[in-house]
Amino acid sequence: MDAKVHELLNQQINKEFYSAYLYLDFSNYFEEVGLDGFANWYKIQAQEERDHAMLFYTYLQNEDQKVTLKAIAKPDKEFNCHMDVLKAGLEHEKYVTSLINDIYGAAYDVRDFRTMQFLDWFVKEQGEEETNANDLITKMELFGSDPKSLYMLNQELAARVYTAPSLVL
Ligand code: FEO
Repeated sequence: MDAKVHELLNQQINKEFYSAYLYLDFSNYFEEVGLDGFANWYKIQAQEERDHAMLFYTYLQNEDQKVTLKAIAKPDKEFNCHMDVLKAGLEHEKYVTSLINDIYGAAYDVRDFRTMQFLDWFVKEQGEEETNANDLITKMELFGSDPKSLYMLNQELAARVYTAPSLVL
């Protein structure tokens, strides 16, 4: 495997685990303010991010490439209101999309078609993650200022259940 592609794939393991840690921090924020549905939604999001990390980890191992695990950074976002958290989520997903695109670009440059095919799932997934983050912001804008509506939105998010990723390696 090309050294740059390898480096970026290895780095992405860390970025995805960081994403899990970040969303766990979001979940903790909502748990503390009593919005247990929002807390559930982000806890499941954190589980999905761990899955993403493991997919990169497994892909490198399957390709007989060295995996090097690095320290996971501390979540460092400060929130003044619920909306801050949701917006930080969308910003983070856009950032992750840019990382996936960078790896894709590096693989494309060296005609690493197998890595490109592996990344196709993540390209689609990032589209969905950005849509989900955007939808949450829209719903909060519409309903967040009315306590009864916020209660119902919280109930809706409480119903989210974990599903394993459709990509199996
Ligand atoms: Fe693993 Fe939310 O991207």
